[in-house]
Amino acid sequence: MADKRTMTTSAGAPVSDNQNSVTAGERGPVLLQDYQLIEKLAHQNRERIPERVVHAKGWGAHGVLKITGDISKYTIAKALQPGVETPMLARFSTVAGEQGAADAERDVRGFALKFYTEDGNWDLVGNNTPVFFVRDPLKFPDFIHTQKRHPRTNMRSPTAMWDFWSLSPESLHQVTILMSDRGLPTAPMFMNGYGSHTYSLWNDKGERFWVKFHFKTMQGHKHHTNAEAEQVVGKTRESYQEALYGTIEDGDFPKWKVQVQIMPEADAEKTSYNPFDLTKVWPHAEYPPIDIGVMELNRNPDNYFTEIENAAFSPSNIVPGISHSPDKMLQARIFSYADAHRYRLGTHYETIPVNQPKCPVHHYHRDGEMNTFGGIKTGNPDAFYEPNSFGGPVENPAAKEPPLKISGDADRYNHRIGNDDYSQPRALFNLFDEGEKNRLFSNIAAAMGGVPGEIIERQLAHFDKIHPDYGNGVRKALKEAHGYEANAVPVTGKTPQRAAE
Ligand code: NDP
Ligand code: HEM
Repeated sequence: MADKRTMTTSAGAPVSDNQNSVTAGERGPVLLQDYQLIEKLAHQNRERIPERVVHAKGWGAHGVLKITGDISKYTIAKALQPGVETPMLARFSTVAGEQGAADAERDVRGFALKFYTEDGNWDLVGNNTPVFFVRDPLKFPDFIHTQKRHPRTNMRSPTAMWDFWSLSPESLHQVTILMSDRGLPTAPMFMNGYGSHTYSLWNDKGERFWVKFHFKTMQGHKHHTNAEAEQVVGKTRESYQEALYGTIEDGDFPKWKVQVQIMPEADAEKTSYNPFDLTKVWPHAEYPPIDIGVMELNRNPDNYFTEIENAAFSPSNIVPGISHSPDKMLQARIFSYADAHRYRLGTHYETIPVNQPKCPVHHYHRDGEMNTFGGIKTGNPDAFYEPNSFGGPVENPAAKEPPLKISGDADRYNHRIGNDDYSQPRALFNLFDEGEKNRLFSNIAAAMGGVPGEIIERQLAHFDKIHPDYGNGVRKALKEAHGYEANAVPVTGKTPQRAAE
């Protein structure tokens, strides 16, 4: 009876009336036996899934990675061989805002990429900045708590942010980027992406090379000032969604130049900085970026929920020829993301179409909630354990990565001792022209609204160590914005959130 146009229940039975509930008499009440009504209401109650604990607001699209350069001497990764084109998915995001947050808010932007390679999914879950706020994963939840809502006021707290940052000088590099022009891009197409961590490449000789990935916007950089962003947010909360969706619908596909920096394995012992420290970049003069290809986004999702909300990106997803590094933050992320996906999307999140590898998948995991892949993935019902005598899939030593050299005693090493937190932010500060410096100062002053003087003074002392002009510039901007004099407690003025309202 149910032809193509006949609406059905989810059990497939034809629906005779989708306008009127079953009632006892014309005026009601509704009868409990109206399963069609109950099913509709029950499904609606289950439409939302937990939002991402961070990076909840996002925008995404499908595309392709085209490799034009030749780094085959460094890696066997199939997706990085000359001429190879790999389908991919990108999701951009803000970090702190909830799913309904306005797009044009000052924040670091997530830059998450999933490459569907012949050897499985390779995910690069980076940001639009080459560094991060903390270098030890033990501090990540603390840091994120300062960015989210205060438990009592239920508002974001500039005091918490600057208290944490001023007590964590390793954050200075990222804070400087966040408060600079690049902290508020106008749309995803107008920002760079960075893998941020040091990863490694390995080749057919079993040699390992450290690597950093960069994605340079080919649309050019575009930023909002705080004042412009207020105007934008006043008109639309969805400026990024509109821009990204619109440009792809118009056939004007955004592109990024893909670059790598390569460091020979032994150099890691020689650099003046720890190359696995996520608060540091590798200076281009020492490790020049090498062009290897182009990433293009060319297809909007047909369904935002199934293709973007359901997307599960994880730094644990690597493929032969690409691997991790000793970066402590990276190890924590290898655990954290898949754990988050099992909670947010369910045990079998990798069977959701957008997360499915586009290559054969053979494993011995079985059963579990919402197992829709028909038992085990070995192709033989008798091969449900390993080893077996029934031709089930076996390991392939060709996928073995070279050993990772490590040394040292297991201990809790103080990461704040002997670490230069000032030189690289200084190199960045020195890159800024006068206009950029002034906007940096005023953005910082605006973000310090409501913060107690003692916290401001602690932060100013760090800015002074980067460059006296930095500290003094912020002092002047604080005076202009809030009439702040040294040690005045607290600074008056609107908090950034209130200003955005
Ligand atoms: P370089 O002058 O060789 O590189 C400068 C880099 O900074 C370029 O990648 C450029 O990106 C980027 N940049 C330029 N202007 C700005 C800006 N206003 N805000 C943020 N980034 C900007 O110097 P180094 O490699 O020695 O790095 C100096 C500083 O530049 C670093 O301390 C770091 O803060 C920053 N930086 C360095 C990167 C690296 O990988 N070495 C990457 C990004 C930033 P673009 O090409 O897009 O213009
Ligand atoms: C999202 C944890 C550091 C970039 C997430 C999520 C978690 C998480 C749990 C939500 C995942 C989901 O529900 O799908 C952590 C931990 C970190 C860390 C524990 C440090 C120890 C970083 C760093 C970067 C980063 C350093 C960038 C360089 C992102 C991005 C997303 C994200 C882009 C959103 C991914 C998407 O679009 O789905 N992070 N994170 N995170 N994180 Fe991190």
